[in-house]
Amino acid sequence: MNDKLKSINTEFEQAIACVSSNEDLEALRIRFLGRKEGLVTNIFKELGKLDAQEKPVYGQKINDLKNLITYEIAQKAKQIEQKAIKGVQSKGAEVFDLSLPAFKNEIGAMHPLSIVTDEICSLFVEMGFKVVEGPEIETEYYNFEVLNIPLEHPSRESFDTFYLHKKSLLRSHTSPVQARYMEKNKPPVQIVVPGKVYRPDATDATHSFMFHQIEGLLVDEGITLAHLNGVLSVFAKKLFGPKTRTRFRPHFFPFTEPSEEMDVSCIICRGKGCRVCGGNGWLEILGAGMVHPKVFKAVNIDSKKYSGFAFGMGVERIAMLKYGIDDIRLFFENDMRFVKQFS
Ligand code: PHE
Repeated sequence: MNDKLKSINTEFEQAIACVSSNEDLEALRIRFLGRKEGLVTNIFKELGKLDAQEKPVYGQKINDLKNLITYEIAQKAKQIEQKAIKGVQSKGAEVFDLSLPAFKNEIGAMHPLSIVTDEICSLFVEMGFKVVEGPEIETEYYNFEVLNIPLEHPSRESFDTFYLHKKSLLRSHTSPVQARYMEKNKPPVQIVVPGKVYRPDATDATHSFMFHQIEGLLVDEGITLAHLNGVLSVFAKKLFGPKTRTRFRPHFFPFTEPSEEMDVSCIICRGKGCRVCGGNGWLEILGAGMVHPKVFKAVNIDSKKYSGFAFGMGVERIAMLKYGIDDIRLFFENDMRFVKQFS
């Protein structure tokens, strides 16, 4: 019996020294401790043949051997695991460590330009306007021609833009959507159009090659400049506060006649004169006018029966005034510390 136990022990020591994987270790465990045919299990069965004095002695010895084997298998399992972790680490891969602090999910915030765009659009929606959008890649026809801006016209220069292939370009204003919409929808028309526009301006604190505009267009029978100025005054008071005053100055746009610009009383100094309004108490907010008969003609609307007004404003400028932001570049730097201040 003693010999048998010894030879099982030696066999085990030799076998475990060669094991290097979990599969081999499991096979080894079954070979020695397996319930049916394990070598140690089988030798327990032989206890019955021994006489009464020997039984407890060898029972104890077999148990010791079983415990030793169990312990060594557990140790080997630990070694294999350690080796695996080291192997992964040396390859530079990450080890999943439950004890490390978790990554924090940062909650985002509405961008100030989105907040102001939404606010302006909803003010017009309250007045019956519908929000529509148009393409940022435009043709020369919609960006210029249909809006009565011929090739040689000097005003084309200030609207000039980035050209892509085959006469397509990045739109320099949202006004092309006026024509696109009127081609498909006949009066009454009452829309606002938010979106990105592009101009080859050098970037500084107040200029960006890309910025946002909101266009407005209302066409029906009997629409006059009084309707335009009424709608814009209501809009200015709702956006900047009920004490806001408005003034309209004559201006020129090829696609409106007459054309004007709207100023609001400075929202910082309330019209007394300060650094923001350049000391004169007024802030220029938008361009507007009555839709030019040539534009109506190009989209097949009878300008004897219908008339309408259009306006366009820059969102960045309004957001800068509203929030006291002094550099347009801040909008596009994607700094969450900036973005989070407005929600
Ligand atoms: N499209 C003009 C601009 O970008 C603004 C405008 C829109 C003027 C509609 C009149 C009517 O400056």
